[in-house]
Amino acid sequence: MINMQRSAPNILITGTPGVGKSLMSRMLSEKSGLVWLDVSKLAIENECLEEYDEVYQCRVLDEEKLLDGMENLMNEGGKIVDYHGAEFFPERWFDIVFVLRTDNTILYDRLKERGYSGKKLEDNIDCEIFQTILEEARTSYREEIVHELMSNNMDQLADNVKRICQWLEQWKIDNT
Ligand SMILES: Nc1ncnc2c1ncn2[C@@H]1O[C@H](COP(=O)(O)OP(=O)(O)O)[C@@H](O)[C@H]1O
Ligand SMILES: [Mg+2]
Repeated sequence: MINMQRSAPNILITGTPGVGKSLMSRMLSEKSGLVWLDVSKLAIENECLEEYDEVYQCRVLDEEKLLDGMENLMNEGGKIVDYHGAEFFPERWFDIVFVLRTDNTILYDRLKERGYSGKKLEDNIDCEIFQTILEEARTSYREEIVHELMSNNMDQLADNVKRICQWLEQWKIDNT
């Protein structure tokens, strides 16, 4: 099934925790009118979290239940999906994918600020160093729809939002 029936495109905003997905999604949602879906919050609201993992200090996700709950929303179109993973969503859901990136030292400070420490902090910094999410996005979606965006400071953030809004305008022209 292709995206012909969507009245507005679906956008995936992904990247390592702390790169600024939620801040950018909120700004983009305000500017564009697209609906922001914070998948981590959705998982809690829809009771998709299972037992607690002591090592990773987080709970295990029931992916099937989460995806089933999102299906109708995604078919409507016009959604900004904000999640720190790229590979478990159906490829057909997205018209474009943005992978946010942040320099390690800046990301380290943001995650410390958030209260991350020990293995969780190290794993997330490694995830950014090894470009794990970028690779994941590139193997999960067509190369030409995956874009890397730097998000070290507010100037870059504003510029990214502006560019995505321009892309949205073009999408409307091309799809009506
Ligand atoms: N481009 C940016 N410049 C400066 N600070 C940012 C930027 N993007 C995010 N932040 C800050 O970094 C922290 C993490 O951002 P957040 O959007 O919660 O990340 P994520 O949703 O990817 O985990 C927040 O305190 C946020 O205000
Ligand atoms: Mg977030």
